[in-house]
Amino acid sequence: MAAKLQADKSRQAQVAHLLGNETKFRAERRAYQPLLCPALAAGPGTTRLLEGFELEVLKVAHEQLPFVSQNRLLEIVPGGKAGAKPRRLGLVLSGGPAPGGHNVIAGLFEAAKQDHPDSVLLGFLAGPQGIITNKSLEVTGEMVGQYKNSGGFHMLGTGRDKIDTSQKMKQCRQTCAALKLDGLVVVGGDDSNTNAAFLAENLRDLDVQVIGIPKTIDGDLQVPGLLRVPFGFHSACLAFATEIGNLNSDCKSDRKYWHFNRLMGRNTSHITLEVAFQTHPNVVLIGEEIEEKELTIHQVVRLIADVIVERARQGKNYGTVLVPEGILEFIHEVNVLIIKISYIIAAYNREAHEGESFHYLSFEDQVQLIDNSDIWRDYDSRVFLGFPFLLQRGLLLPRDSHGNFQFSLVNTERILLEMVATYLRKQRAKGIYKGTFKTQNHFYGYDGRGTFPTKFDCDYTYNLGHAAYSLLANGATGYMAGIKDLEKNVADWRPIGIPLAPLMHLEERLGRLELVIAKQKVDLESPAFKILAREREKWALEDHYRFPGPIQFRGPAADTKPITLQLNARG
Ligand code: FBP
Repeated sequence: MAAKLQADKSRQAQVAHLLGNETKFRAERRAYQPLLCPALAAGPGTTRLLEGFELEVLKVAHEQLPFVSQNRLLEIVPGGKAGAKPRRLGLVLSGGPAPGGHNVIAGLFEAAKQDHPDSVLLGFLAGPQGIITNKSLEVTGEMVGQYKNSGGFHMLGTGRDKIDTSQKMKQCRQTCAALKLDGLVVVGGDDSNTNAAFLAENLRDLDVQVIGIPKTIDGDLQVPGLLRVPFGFHSACLAFATEIGNLNSDCKSDRKYWHFNRLMGRNTSHITLEVAFQTHPNVVLIGEEIEEKELTIHQVVRLIADVIVERARQGKNYGTVLVPEGILEFIHEVNVLIIKISYIIAAYNREAHEGESFHYLSFEDQVQLIDNSDIWRDYDSRVFLGFPFLLQRGLLLPRDSHGNFQFSLVNTERILLEMVATYLRKQRAKGIYKGTFKTQNHFYGYDGRGTFPTKFDCDYTYNLGHAAYSLLANGATGYMAGIKDLEKNVADWRPIGIPLAPLMHLEERLGRLELVIAKQKVDLESPAFKILAREREKWALEDHYRFPGPIQFRGPAADTKPITLQLNARG
């Protein structure tokens, strides 16, 4: 009897062990101590001006941000002041998750504690809403150890709230005053760093310094020559590339499917460019190129179909196609409609009564409302009605809280796939196309956003956390922490403080012009793009597939960096 009980217990223990949340993988990751660059390794550094870069500030930015507009570019060098005071710091994770966020927290926490053990770090919950409503928790060493080198933003949660009204700003001021904060670190993309700039300006009289951190898997928060890539981009791209590499392998084996893959990245194609270098697909669309060449949606469809027809002639009725999720915005005729519809939606929702919204209307009523708008021309209707139904529906989908079109909600790869199928049917009728067109479509986005960070992102984010602390300790506010020379080894990285004001431009949001941080698009003159333009000819017809495999954390394959970063850094 006793033996049976003992055996049952041991079986239960085995099952509990098998089903436990703790994996060897996570344990191994926790044990990794990220590397620090020399300027940050021996405690907080000191700041000095970094010359040689022209950073111009728009007049409107001077007007709206008179104080932070005066900031100059800073470099952090070793040797901070002794006799630090304890600091009360806040940190907010903002926007979409990006691998490495927890290491920013770790870096900031450890830098603050090393400088003074009585310093406190408060993490705001659920993004900027946490500041507005004063919801935070104190970050502890145990939490930092638990989350180190892991993916996601779940230590604190995140959100997309914009601090865009005087009421919300007032609430933020109240929170910072109530918590007696000396500093606030805002981890986010263009919109979140825009928040950071305005917070810096508005919290100045409370002596609360604000520092932004460049995060976004989209890769579009860059400062030429200074910050080549935001954190999270490398990990997300490698996660997507792992999947596309697997599809390459599958399609080359059973030789029967065309895989249409849409990749996140919103208004830019950095992710698609990087994943293309990682995997060598048969067709890769770069939105910025389509925009420059002023291609119509039908021309884009032909571009894909031509490769399919040519490969079919060679007996290859399979392949992979990469489509950036924001491609619609780069197609002029579609983008005009996106802008006009966004404007109409914003105007309708502004006037709507409580409980009403454009998105509660039926499709027919939405179209009717758009048709009745002063800015909608007959020509717009003709273009709209000429689009496949899936695209029409997509154009009417809800905008996000910043008024942005939500590309991730539109099945663009499916729309293109169906349009390609229609075109191929016509080519078949003419006797031009004789292949078979069996398809699969995929979307890669949220999965890669939640992946474990690469070693590059682990080190990068840990350095960013430390850099943010150094900037705060040196009295800086209205800056974004950055690391220059990321293409080099950690030992050669240079932490910097980039003034936020020069990064801003005017952009239409919710039907109004607003001062926001500008996104950087793929530069068609960059070495990376030129190399792609050359290589993709080969990838289209020959099978040059590259199989990057999963993210590694140990061994030589762990020490990778984005290919685009390396190509562009070579000049
Ligand atoms: P961030 O710019 O906040 O980092 O988010 C980028 C992104 O992942 C885009 O690639 C994507 O279009 C969007 O977020 C999806 O947003 P949501 O999380 O609101 O669905």
